[in-house]
Parts: sequence; structure tokens; C-alpha cells
Amino acid sequence: MPKQILIAYGSRYGSTAEIARAMAETFKKEGLEPQVLDLEQTKQKQWPSLTSFDGLVIGSGIKIGRWTRQATKFLQTHADEIKTLKSKGLIVGVFVSCGLASTPGKQDEARQTYVKKILDDVSMSGAVDISDAFGGVYDLSSSSPMGFLDKRMLSLGAKQMSKDGVTLTEGARNDLRDWDQIRAFVEHFAQLVKAGI
Ligand SMILES: Cc1cc2nc3c(=O)[nH]c(=O)nc-3n(C[C@H](O)[C@H](O)[C@H](O)COP(=O)(O)O)c2cc1C
Repeated sequence: MPKQILIAYGSRYGSTAEIARAMAETFKKEGLEPQVLDLEQTKQKQWPSLTSFDGLVIGSGIKIGRWTRQATKFLQTHADEIKTLKSKGLIVGVFVSCGLASTPGKQDEARQTYVKKILDDVSMSGAVDISDAFGGVYDLSSSSPMGFLDKRMLSLGAKQMSKDGVTLTEGARNDLRDWDQIRAFVEHFAQLVKAGI
């Protein structure tokens, strides 16, 4: 039976959801069986038991420095269980999708600020095999799913990014995710699961 992977994610505007679905496709190509769990849309009592999985990937989009409410809750609720399962062989990966990671020279800052900090907060840093910060989507198009205030904030963020050397197109959906980086993360994770370490 193929090894089972849970990809649990929180996404406000869809970028992290797309990453989770792309990860699932790569896991399938690796001969693993992924299950994608949208934490914002799934009631907590319907979250699957972690004991059925060989690998767990948890991710969130970032808004004003924060993970989504449910992705944060998932980490807080499961931190102790994840640590116990980790000692029994569960492979654990963590990622974020955010603007900071799209800015040249700021990727390490993004990892520290949005990944390491939350893992330290839930005392889970030692229980994670791989983690990374991926770029995000800056949807400045008229069909963007965001409300007025969120658009305004995104626009201010986009101005700062332009100053930092990122070229964004006004009126367009700017996808700043590096799909090779995301694929490499999944392939590395799949190797660890297959090795069963
Ligand atoms: C209102 C708003 C606030 C944001 N705040 C941050 C931030 O504090 N830091 C950051 O690096 N990116 C920030 N971003 C960029 C998002 O993290 C990026 O668009 C990401 O892809 C969103 O993921 P999601 O679509 O899964 O929610 C913000 C975006 C919006 C719209």
C-alpha cells in the first residue's frame, strides 16, 4: 500500500491552496498517496486522525505577519501528538506562502519570521524535518478575490516590494511563487518518507 501523506493548509486568497494541490500532484508522481485538507473549510471534528499518515505537511498563507486562524489552531492542537508521532517515524514538513519570500535577499528572513517563530511558539522546532518559505501571489487585477482594505494593504506591500527590486505589474495577477523550489521541497520530503527514517 502506498505511503500516506496529509497536506493540511490554511489559505485566505487561494495561493497556498494552489501550492497544496500542486504538492499533491508531485507526491502522486512519487508513488505516494496524498490527502489535501483545507483547514479553513473543514470543521475541526472532521480533521483526519494523524495516526493514519506516514508524512504530514502543514502550510499557511501570511497576512499581516500571521498564519490563518485554523492553520495556527491545527499546529497548537496537534503539537504534542506530532512530536509523539515523529518519534515513531512520522515525517513532518512546514511551509508558508508570503510576499517577503518573493523579495530578493529576504527569503531567510521570511523563514525566520513566518516559519521558525510559530514553530518555536508551539515548541515544535525540533519535530520538523524540512521547512521553507515560498513566494506568494500579488493579485492586483480587477478580478482579485480581495476586499477593498485587503487590496489597499496588498498595494502598499507591493510598493515596498518594488523598492526592494521586485517588478510587479499593475492591474495583473503577479504570481511570485517559484514552482521549482516547491517541487524540490516535495521531492526531498518524499525521499524522507520513502526512506522511512
Ligand atoms: C492583506 C494582505 C496582507 C499581507 N501581509 C503580508 C505580510 O505581512 N507579510 C508577507 O510576507 N506577505 C504578506 N501578504 C502577501 C501574502 O502572504 C501572499 O499574497 C500569499 O500568497 C497569500 O497566501 P494565500 O492566498 O494562501 O492567503 C499579504 C497579502 C495581503 C492581501
